[in-house]
Amino acid sequence: MASYNLLLLPGDGIGPEVMAEVERVIRWLDANSGVHFETETDLVGGSAYDVHGVAITDETMKTAMAADAVIFGAVGGPKWDAVPYEVRPEAGLLRLRKDLELFANLRPAICYPALADASSLKREVVEGLDILILRELTGGVYFGEPKEIVTLENGEKRAVDTQVYTTHEIERIARVAFELARARRNKVTSMEKRNVMRSGVLWNQVVTAVHKAEYPDVQLEHMLADAGGMQLVRWPKQFDVIVTDNLFGDMLSDVAAMLTGSLGMLPSASLGAPDPATGKRKALYEPVHGSAPDIAGKGIANPIAMIASLGMALRYSFDMGEAADLVDGAIADVLASGTRTADLAAKGQNSVSTREMGEAIVKAMAKRA
Ligand code: NAI
Ligand code: MG
Repeated sequence: MASYNLLLLPGDGIGPEVMAEVERVIRWLDANSGVHFETETDLVGGSAYDVHGVAITDETMKTAMAADAVIFGAVGGPKWDAVPYEVRPEAGLLRLRKDLELFANLRPAICYPALADASSLKREVVEGLDILILRELTGGVYFGEPKEIVTLENGEKRAVDTQVYTTHEIERIARVAFELARARRNKVTSMEKRNVMRSGVLWNQVVTAVHKAEYPDVQLEHMLADAGGMQLVRWPKQFDVIVTDNLFGDMLSDVAAMLTGSLGMLPSASLGAPDPATGKRKALYEPVHGSAPDIAGKGIANPIAMIASLGMALRYSFDMGEAADLVDGAIADVLASGTRTADLAAKGQNSVSTREMGEAIVKAMAKRA
């Protein structure tokens, strides 16, 4: 029987509350899917800082390196606002991304029919939407050198951030885009600004070359990133996989996220390079939302983003596409039945707790299976 090791890092705020519901789903899968899941739970973020004085320990990092996937809740909160910069809660997540070299960030934007009216766009524009934004996560202007603020001779200051991409970095993210598209609707849209940025010229050339040499069967189109932003809002269903750099991806994925409604609904995956020996990728799955200190401890957080993140782990780390469909289908069923956490409920509508939502999803999985 196949068996996988999951490292669960609930973190702070609502992190542990939504993680408890993922554990419920894992227990069900363990009992019913023919695949065994071994889980280990550890501290990250502020809760790790309180105990160890760092946002993630070396020992936890070792476990993360060896795990088949890391399932991450959320970190941070006002309690740790004054802690030193190097050990602030977010440092735990940043170290995981860096040390596991998670260069590919997948952000699906899916519109569940039951929530189509919650979007700020018209129902016809978003209903049935299912697109995937693939953001390069470890390169580009957030990391390029030089990165500085210097004082000039005349007393003025000058700030510099540097956009840097190498052929290798673009090739590997392009390959992920084409592989993802092959398992979806076979279309990739690459977005850059080749009209004003040298890195955009190279991005365009390298994506085109990878396409020609390795993935000619996939449809490829290029779009300037600003026009892409317009198109995302005008008619998002024209896209399948959008691949773009770190900065544009940060913005475009947030835009795409809001096409579909609440922050409590949005999962993400961050993938590393495949191990040359085993073909396995390091991977971390987490909801897009943060630790939501305003509702932490109340038991009302929406666990769907967290549970859908586990669904992505099933799909992208464990080749369990059917089980992933089961999770996604159960979420759709529960929403269709009118079950809502407070963030999704209309004014005056009844809402359920975090735990009730988790239980309803597991029940819907059992019914579908
Ligand atoms: P946030 O995502 O935590 O919350 C924004 C708003 O959305 C809040 O009103 C919150 O109640 C609501 N919300 C978020 N997730 C929800 C859910 N699952 N169910 C229902 N409502 C939900 O972002 P915010 O307030 O800017 O940051 C709070 C803390 O989280 C900060 O310390 C921030 O640094 C941290 N953060 C951590 C992230 C991570 O761990 N990856 C990502 C974003 C923020
Ligand atoms: Mg962002």
